Amino acid sequence: ADFPRIAPSILSADFSRLGEEVRAIEAAGAALVHFDVMDNHYVPNLTIGPLVCEAIRPHVKIGIDVHLMVEPVDALIPLFARAGANLITFHPEASRHVDRTLQLIRDHGCKAGIALNPATPLAWMDHVMDRLDIVLLMSVNPGFGGQAFIPATLAKLREARRRIDAHSAAGGQPIWLEVDGGVKTGNIGQIAAAGADTFVAGSAVFGSPDADGGYHRVMHELRR
Ligand code: DX5
Ligand code: ZN
Repeated sequence: ADFPRIAPSILSADFSRLGEEVRAIEAAGAALVHFDVMDNHYVPNLTIGPLVCEAIRPHVKIGIDVHLMVEPVDALIPLFARAGANLITFHPEASRHVDRTLQLIRDHGCKAGIALNPATPLAWMDHVMDRLDIVLLMSVNPGFGGQAFIPATLAKLREARRRIDAHSAAGGQPIWLEVDGGVKTGNIGQIAAAGADTFVAGSAVFGSPDADGGYHRVMHELRR
């Protein structure tokens, strides 16, 4: 069930039943729980924090992939690490000291990564390759679920894949390439062909009710 990795975003889940919702996606083969943190400052929306992360932690064994859309970043890292996060990504332009933030995440025992908006250049990867466990490319502007995939992301994914492969070929650590926003059964094939290995899907997974195995069906389709 690990590859390709599907990370359902609970942004589109039923918040009144989050424990059940994360158990259902784990049973349907999810590799990670994607956990969207918005602060009404870096993005124009407000979601969930460490208390909710801690509350869902005992419900699943799979990793929790915390996507911080917040500014500033650093103060939340120890709180999410303590709340059971396994992987933490942040938007580098929202951190005063990107290298330090990446180190801080790893020092707290989590995998670390940067999240790049559609118009944010890949150049942010340049001097921190050794500190990255994951690069998240946004294929929508962050803030809301249910938006349409921005096609220019495909070329950007290909270029990110090239850089990551060159890094590995030179003896560097593996780096996951995650795509986030507008991923559906109808476009995931193209997105995978462009080089992504980890796929966030919010509305595609939680948009159909789980009754009669709906999550299983869509997760199976996405992986296929
Ligand atoms: C957007 C979030 C995404 C979002 C994806 O700011 O980072 O994770 O929930 O939702 P869909 O798959 O519906 O585009
Ligand atoms: Zn996200």
